[in-house]
Amino acid sequence: MSDLPMMRAALCERYGDASAVHVAAVPRPVPGAGEVLVRILASTLDSADRRVRALDMPPGFGPMARLAFGFRRPRQPILGTALAGIVEAVGPGVTRFRPGDDVVASTGAAQGCHAGYRVIAERKAIAAKPESLGFEEAAAVIFGGMTARFFLETKAPVISGEKVLVIGAGGAVGVAVMQLARAAGATVTACCSAGKANWVQSQGADGVIDYRAPGWPQTHEGAFDLVIDTVGAMPASQSVRLARPGGRLVALTASLWDFMAMPWLNARSGRSVIGGMVPDNAEGLARVMALAEAGRLRPAIGARFPLERIGEAHALIDGGHKTGSIVITTG
Ligand SMILES: NC(=O)c1ccc[n+]([C@@H]2O[C@H](COP(=O)([O-])OP(=O)(O)OC[C@H]3O[C@@H](n4cnc5c(N)ncnc54)[C@H](OP(=O)(O)O)[C@@H]3O)[C@@H](O)[C@H]2O)c1
Repeated sequence: MSDLPMMRAALCERYGDASAVHVAAVPRPVPGAGEVLVRILASTLDSADRRVRALDMPPGFGPMARLAFGFRRPRQPILGTALAGIVEAVGPGVTRFRPGDDVVASTGAAQGCHAGYRVIAERKAIAAKPESLGFEEAAAVIFGGMTARFFLETKAPVISGEKVLVIGAGGAVGVAVMQLARAAGATVTACCSAGKANWVQSQGADGVIDYRAPGWPQTHEGAFDLVIDTVGAMPASQSVRLARPGGRLVALTASLWDFMAMPWLNARSGRSVIGGMVPDNAEGLARVMALAEAGRLRPAIGARFPLERIGEAHALIDGGHKTGSIVITTG
């Protein structure tokens, strides 16, 4: 038996369904030079975790995903890309944080947040938690907020008065996109299942489209200045037609073929077609926290599970219709 302090962690040691994840005791990490040890109080289970656990990538990206995340099984068995917690200890040379600080972090593809503790280099995406947000609330804005901020502030800035369509509005990314677009002065139409109509309106949607409505999407061709398809609900060649000539499509979830065809679609469609991957950097995280503190991004928590019951959270996300963020509590 090891004398090292232990922690509880959710381990995913094979690709598969929700049953691939189990909770166990593992050694607690120790901060090295320039590193911060955070005691995690809240994290989230997001679409990115499901994509890795199930190795369910947009068409064409599967082989690259095995290279990135592990050929036969996840190289990093602890999933989770966002956390909020308290600094427990710091390694030599750390200057920005002290034990006792309340912090948030976004670990991106390095994951590791579904655990009691995580070590993070202080030069990475770690920031002070706003006092106005609790730990669960702060964790809940990270994943969707980082994505929405990246696309709406750097790749396709929204102009006040624009008509914006958000496809996948009921999810963690969609709700954050709606909030930022609304805060920028846009009129926002949410596309989601009928059962989420009231919920997306409570999150700021001005109008709602049920994606099972007869005639959709042809009924709305050319109706929007900016279309943000968070889920890859249709090929980009079809969703681009929802934007008016001269408008923009952000295709957040594109197949490899759609991704490769974007320059061609850009030239042929008369609209700008935008894709890309969200970087995990300290600047982005600090901006997300500032937006949350200003009330422009608001936590939208659809479900909460303690770490010990994370398997139920994985089963919920496998249903494909999750609402907002799923918070995992560790405290
Ligand atoms: N490019 C990047 O760097 C990046 C970064 C983050 C996320 N993403 C991608 O963004 C996507 C969304 O992420 P998320 O975290 O928001 O997922 P999520 O929280 O699981 O939400 C997905 C939402 O889409 C809705 N939906 C399902 N089918 C739909 C359809 N045909 N039309 C409209 N809505 C539909 C679901 O509920 P209802 O069916 O009940 O409406 C659910 O609310 C994922 O595919 C993820 O991989 C990309």
